[in-house]
Amino acid sequence: LNNGVGRTPPMGWNTWNTFGCNISEALIRQTADALVANGMRDLGYRYVVVDDCWFNPDRDAQGNLQAHPTRFPSGMRALGDYLHARGLLFGIYQSPMDQTCAQYFDAFPGSTGSLGHEAQDARQFAAWGVDYLKYDWCSPNGTINDQVTAFARMRDALAATGRPILYSINSNSIHAKTGPLRNWGDVANIWRTTEDITNAWNTGQTNGYPMGIQNIVNVNVPLASYAAPGSFNDPDMLEVGNGGMTDTEMRSHFALWSVMASPLIAGNDVRNANAATLAILRNQNLVAINQDSLGLQATQVSNDGTRRVLAKRLANGDVAVALFNQGSSTTTVSTTAAAVGKTGSSFSLRDAWTNATTTTTSSISASVPAHGTVVYRLSGGSTGPTPTTFRLRGEASGRC
Ligand code: GLA
Repeated sequence: LNNGVGRTPPMGWNTWNTFGCNISEALIRQTADALVANGMRDLGYRYVVVDDCWFNPDRDAQGNLQAHPTRFPSGMRALGDYLHARGLLFGIYQSPMDQTCAQYFDAFPGSTGSLGHEAQDARQFAAWGVDYLKYDWCSPNGTINDQVTAFARMRDALAATGRPILYSINSNSIHAKTGPLRNWGDVANIWRTTEDITNAWNTGQTNGYPMGIQNIVNVNVPLASYAAPGSFNDPDMLEVGNGGMTDTEMRSHFALWSVMASPLIAGNDVRNANAATLAILRNQNLVAINQDSLGLQATQVSNDGTRRVLAKRLANGDVAVALFNQGSSTTTVSTTAAAVGKTGSSFSLRDAWTNATTTTTSSISASVPAHGTVVYRLSGGSTGPTPTTFRLRGEASGRC
């Protein structure tokens, strides 16, 4: 979406994965302070997103949304001011239906969705200083056309406010079994591609609730051609630091999201993050690969069911190569410089986790533990022309 924001995948933090509806202004402020203190803000984690359950279940007499009176007693404008004063950005959650997901699925009382209030709510968000809207389809009912209409209506309402607001949509509740049925790049900056993530490696789901890391990768990798500056696939928020996985699996999760040009929205309690969690979230090599200005998502080079290789072309001609072991024991995962689009006779490989640099004439290979991902930044030689650009509906430029 060509609205001036989201030219690289958004980075930040969201309440949902750890806190669900247990949210408050104290939690958000403490988290904001932690993001500043631990260096995450300065690495790019700037959007602080208040997910479902922030609102009063009833609108006021004029139909305006209101903050939940005990969770956010100072109101949402004050919260936005607190974030902006610290160099952070303010995200909020809403639904195109008459109820949000917590209301619809968990029988949370009231009816506060934006249906019929789109322009009014967009103006309210802009007045509160909102910089990011997560807009979440929360009913198994409707058709793909209903969704396009509903999501485009809020896109236009946000544009009419004149405030640049990153637009994140989730249509998965209606086509959870298939992944996205269309390229949403003309509607939103980021769009969910799968059912909800959980803190597990593999739940055995194809695209049903809940999704483990391996299950999400299987759905999201084939969608690589949709990614472009301003428009990215969203394989859901991070579970790094939330237990349920080994450190190797959490590193793999972060490495794969980085090369897939996925939004990097932390979902842990960053106030109490341990050293292993912070080392993953603050890996500057992977953040740089994720935030590369070309905005390309890694494409699949090979996959034999166990050994999977993904490659992401970068703006300076380097290629990020992910060697992913999907199996249950250590194995060697290999590819070649030519297979990832490089020509030449000598290349350097920099390991994104260890910073160790090696040279090679062709082979790119690593011994990778079960469920692990080694990422190399491949430099040297030459790369072919940058991928052809084309005009996506409503876009000044895009890429196929
Ligand atoms: C859906 C979304 C989640 C979260 C919840 C809130 O399940 O996919 O990310 O926003 O709704 O109720």
